[in-house]
Amino acid sequence: MATSIVPTLTTVPHHRGWPLVGSTYPFISDPLGFMLRLQEQYERLATVKVLGRTLNIVQTAEDAKYILQENNRNYHKSEAYRILAIFLGNGLLTSEEDFWRRQRKLAQPAFYKQRLALMTDMMAWETELLVADWKTHDPTQPRDISKDMLGLTLNIVTKALFSTDVGDRVAGISDALNGIMHFADNTLKSFIRVPLKYPTPGNVQFLRAVQKVEEVIYGIINGRREQWKQDPDLRYDDLLDMLMRTRDEETGETMSDGQLRDEVTTIFMAGHETTANALSWALYLLARYPEVAHKIREESTEVLAQKDKSTFEKARELRYTLQVVQEVMRLYPPAWVISRRSLAEDQIGPYAFPTDSYFLISPYTLHRRPEYWQEPEAFNPDRFTEGNAKDRPTYAYLPFGGGPRLCIGNNFALLEMQLVLAILLRDFEVSLLSPDQVVEPEPMVTLRPKGSVTLKLKKVKG
Ligand code: HEM
Repeated sequence: MATSIVPTLTTVPHHRGWPLVGSTYPFISDPLGFMLRLQEQYERLATVKVLGRTLNIVQTAEDAKYILQENNRNYHKSEAYRILAIFLGNGLLTSEEDFWRRQRKLAQPAFYKQRLALMTDMMAWETELLVADWKTHDPTQPRDISKDMLGLTLNIVTKALFSTDVGDRVAGISDALNGIMHFADNTLKSFIRVPLKYPTPGNVQFLRAVQKVEEVIYGIINGRREQWKQDPDLRYDDLLDMLMRTRDEETGETMSDGQLRDEVTTIFMAGHETTANALSWALYLLARYPEVAHKIREESTEVLAQKDKSTFEKARELRYTLQVVQEVMRLYPPAWVISRRSLAEDQIGPYAFPTDSYFLISPYTLHRRPEYWQEPEAFNPDRFTEGNAKDRPTYAYLPFGGGPRLCIGNNFALLEMQLVLAILLRDFEVSLLSPDQVVEPEPMVTLRPKGSVTLKLKKVKG
């Protein structure tokens, strides 16, 4: 009798939870701990039942690569993004297929190296303003670093988008964005979702926050259209100018106001809190590991003092600082989970999946998988020297996702974080409030420091 050479397809091992509710409780109450335990127990994929839905938890770099890159056309963003889309509309983060492809092509030039180079002086300047503020801070008193980083990254993304000083108009937008993130988080975690047409307190607050953000953004777009009426040649060196002028190659059309609103809001949302969280985690870890902070200071003191180089050239020389940023995002990836839904049946290794299967890829757990990372909980920026990084599978490290949906702002964020840390550390020592101070992660839509990071600041002599 002939034997088949086609491997037999099996089903993914299921992690049994409670009757009816499955693994909802551990997943909602402590998703990071729960997913780490799954990683220990299951070699490859595992399914869990959460809020009535079966989720496939992806454990390996190989499968993450398959879903995000190799067969990405079969995987759309899952429901979590549809909740964000209530607010972000059809922006880059939430759109799909041809529409997304067209928008990505239109927006990509705004993030080319030459454009980023133009923004580095502004990033450095905004950080120097914070340094000036830190100099007035009483060194015996704790400082709310999370608040500082949210403020700084908001100023930077605002200037990148709108260049001119729209500070007063943007005031209050940070709270509105925060409210929206909370709403998205609560909605994701609830069994019952109350449609927005019902005026529950949560819905009312959310819609008010959306209105606030829209007013600001439409206000700025309209202001610019008015200026153009007066002076059609007026150019700004910012993302909004590029997004408003860029034309579709085939149709020759520019973006509608609605589409501009969606893209601008998306960049605001995607580029603000993620970077702020990474920077807060960075300063917390640097307070824990003063020897790493010292090495950044040595590098930045030397590099930033070079008068003959542009800020962009200097930023690219901050190589150790970059390794620190990469290691911070290994331990605390702001986008701690990436989710997808399959459009058609598929096979991954020996497993068969029907249409509409849900997949969770967690950078947080992949970044701790012992197969890829020795002593995964240790903070060690040397993991990212060229020599040490070369033997790791690419998808073992994915703070910015991967494949065609890779974060469009990844280089923007890296440059920003390098410059911010180098400038702050050049002038200040950061220390814990007490040796046993521990900050826990809080997995919301992004991975935030629970409560906030508060540290002591001390001006460096000289
Ligand atoms: C540390 C900071 C950041 C992190 C960790 C981060 C992470 C990510 C990740 C993981 C994705 C992919 C999501 C998925 O595949 O489902 C993404 C997409 C995106 N990010 Fe970022 N991001 C950061 C900063 C920024 C910045 C600064 C901007 C803009 C200025 C930005 C704009 C976007 C946009 C527009 C997308 C959607 C891209 C597309 O699908 O075409 N991000 N980001």
